[in-house]
Amino acid sequence: MKILPWMIEISDCGADSREFRESIFSLGNGYMGTRGFRPEEPGAHSAWRSTFISGFFEYIRPGITDMVNQPDFSAAEIRIAGRPVTELPLSDFRQRLYMDCGLAEWEYTAQAEGAAVRIKVEKFLSMSERHTAAMRFTLTPVNSAVDCSVAVGLDGAVRNLPIADNQLQENTEFARIWGEVRTEPLEGGGMLRARTHVSGRATAMCFSAQGRGHERSSRELDGEYVGSRFEARLEPGRRLTVEKLVSVACFRDGPEPERLACEALKRAAARGFEGLLEDTQLAWSELWQDMDIELTGSAEWQGALRYNIFQLIQSTPEGDGRASIGARGLTHGRYKGCYFWDTEIFMLPMFSCMRPAAARSLLEYRYHTLDDAVKSAAGFSAKGARYSWMSADTGFEQCETWDTGCCEIHITADIAYAIGSYFEQTGDEAFLRDCGCEILIQTARYWTDRFNYCPAEDRYHLLFVKGPDEYCGVTSDDFYSVRMAAHNLRLAARAVGFLQERFPEKLAELGLKLGLGADEPGKWLELAGKTCERFDEERGLWLQDATFEYLEPLDIAAHKTGNLPLYRSISFDRLQRYKVLKQPAVLMYMALRPGEFSQDELRAAWDYYEPRTLHDSTLSYGIHALLAARLGLGDAAVSYFEKSLFLDLRDVMSSTGREGIHAASLGATWQAVVFGFCGLTLRDGVPACEPRLPPHIGSVRFHVRARGRRYRIELSHFGSVITEICEL
Ligand code: BGC
Repeated sequence: MKILPWMIEISDCGADSREFRESIFSLGNGYMGTRGFRPEEPGAHSAWRSTFISGFFEYIRPGITDMVNQPDFSAAEIRIAGRPVTELPLSDFRQRLYMDCGLAEWEYTAQAEGAAVRIKVEKFLSMSERHTAAMRFTLTPVNSAVDCSVAVGLDGAVRNLPIADNQLQENTEFARIWGEVRTEPLEGGGMLRARTHVSGRATAMCFSAQGRGHERSSRELDGEYVGSRFEARLEPGRRLTVEKLVSVACFRDGPEPERLACEALKRAAARGFEGLLEDTQLAWSELWQDMDIELTGSAEWQGALRYNIFQLIQSTPEGDGRASIGARGLTHGRYKGCYFWDTEIFMLPMFSCMRPAAARSLLEYRYHTLDDAVKSAAGFSAKGARYSWMSADTGFEQCETWDTGCCEIHITADIAYAIGSYFEQTGDEAFLRDCGCEILIQTARYWTDRFNYCPAEDRYHLLFVKGPDEYCGVTSDDFYSVRMAAHNLRLAARAVGFLQERFPEKLAELGLKLGLGADEPGKWLELAGKTCERFDEERGLWLQDATFEYLEPLDIAAHKTGNLPLYRSISFDRLQRYKVLKQPAVLMYMALRPGEFSQDELRAAWDYYEPRTLHDSTLSYGIHALLAARLGLGDAAVSYFEKSLFLDLRDVMSSTGREGIHAASLGATWQAVVFGFCGLTLRDGVPACEPRLPPHIGSVRFHVRARGRRYRIELSHFGSVITEICEL
């Protein structure tokens, strides 16, 4: 693989790397995403040729949903001398992804009956018309005349592959989500309408196809497929080109998805393939003006860093407050497409700093699901709002592993933390007033019910919890969860103060709606001040939880070779009795709120927990890189950073093909660069930097937004220059 500053190139087309390539070349525009399969190559199964729409889920069991694999709008077939290219020997294969404009391109030579034909396939999802995708197929015989044909269409015969959240369970059972699929030819193309089997959720797709250089064209209609075929006997040097434009709309867009899809197709057809590509390039260049990070010193690091940012942008439903970013974005149905703390803790900081509008819509999703969180809390006999560990289009729990779903409750505090940080950076009072305060108040109320008071100690304990280190079993007083909950409680008290001062009418309205007692903020603060965290004075060490110190030591080097997670070879039950961590926990909290600790405490925690951490989650490397950079541990910072930076591009965990792109790691990589190597802080909305660049990075340049102002930040080993930019 070649990683260039703006392009990724792969020249291997072997079957072994196919799933990997399909993940890496995934395309998305926030509204929808599609895996990077070659349109003309049939999937090993239709569930692998996946296309998703942000926020489009359907029930597969009572209460449990899956992200829906949409009808296949990339359907295509190329034939040379009557034979599908996928059965022919291919040579000179090259596959490229252009990150400046979101274009994927495949080029290769296919041989049939002595004729060699050069084939180029291009595909992109429009960033300017988010309901639109475009493809172009170009066939050029090289040495002798040959019969060529290209068929393109829409295919509704697709299945889902719901994958359980139990990481050991691979699913091989496909689910049919679409109850009804209807296709019809239209002038110059066709239309497909489909409804899901349980809730009747509709998707409509239209396509138009235009050929050049063909002798004949025909329509094809076969059950759930509608398409157009273009055929010609081509002389060497003559070309057959087929351009396919597709538009997609669904029930989420309004009551008439068919009309919306038809209108989108008309707009797309008026621009054509080239026009749409130009508009998309322009839209991407505007995004890159906000989000790019320029590095000097390593072209590979530069390209890989852009790839991390690029993939995160592609999966982000900016402007749609009813959806968030799944753990694998829109690149795979792993975890049933669900949303985790991954969004708020790992991905959101990039958007808060660089693209606040996107950060805001991600947080709006949590407001959209607040009522469900209130019902969930009630289901756990608690007041307030309890957010689900895994959620989808509703806020109801999608996690089917009981200990995680019931006990990994820190997500509620993570959401509160994210609201606090977003407000701190952006100063977005309207969001805090209209959405944030209510979330903070309701989540604080949940904690008042979730902690248990011990009169003998005059302390509150957090019992039966699972921290971010999921190998801790079900434990008590998990440091991360306790501190985050205390922060949540304090933020809620501050939120009430904020309303009192800035928007007293809103406070009165909320007070009435929620039955807010005047004594509640005081109780929150009292609880926050009496939680139980364990500090070992002798070692100067913050302890992870109530049980970690009782666990049995494990010789990690003897058990873990390479980067494969240990849960593949040792059972969870055994793992949770070893003194090892799946991913950072105390260190995770320290990464988020370093100001609460002395340098000695940070170092002691690093020295103790880092050697015991297995990095069995992809969320681990980037956070360790960030902490190592802050602690001045240059070599460790670089070594962790490289794992995070290339996590998917080099398939570090051997799961990128099977599971898709790891969205939280993309965000952690960004944090390692900006908060770690560049040492960016935004206290009171004022950016400051403390560069700790690795030796082979010469300089870094990027932009941030804070409290309505925009800044250019330039750093080198000698210091940093921060310039405010006037925006017209
Ligand atoms: C990690 C969680 C994470 C989830 C989804 C798990 O392996 O332990 O922290 O939220 O994956 O990415």
